[in-house]
Amino acid sequence: MRRHPALEPFSRDHNDALILARKLIEGRAEAVPELERLWIADLQPHFAAEERLLLPFLSRDEADRLLAEHAALAQAIAASANPQDMGRLLHDHVRWEERSLFPAVEARLTDRQAAELLEAADAYERSRWADSPRRAELVQRRWSRRRRGLP
Ligand SMILES: [Fe+2]
Ligand SMILES: [Fe+2]
Repeated sequence: MRRHPALEPFSRDHNDALILARKLIEGRAEAVPELERLWIADLQPHFAAEERLLLPFLSRDEADRLLAEHAALAQAIAASANPQDMGRLLHDHVRWEERSLFPAVEARLTDRQAAELLEAADAYERSRWADSPRRAELVQRRWSRRRRGLP
């Protein structure tokens, strides 16, 4: 199913997170330094944005799980836990969001909520551009299509 545009910025982050999770699980040498870099540049801002923007639309159980898994990942990284374990935590968290949580959120957003979330998610997306010119270009192309009413 196509992701709602209001959740697309998070799903774009998830693509990168899944690539990193795979490297951690495979025990690749570059994976841990990459995790340390991405934790500051990508994962922390991503978690903070999910907690700020998505929590109002989650059930109690969903919110508890999201916060617990974010905290577990933060603790594992702070403690330099086993890379495979961190990779699995990251992988399973992202898969849960993509396969269960995001479809549930999409289904329950009213049009007005979706429009407000889209605006906030676009602002979040823009905040990521300093780190990724490639992503800036991709997103600007998407926005231009959206403005013209194209899929
Ligand atoms: Fe998350
Ligand atoms: Fe996420």
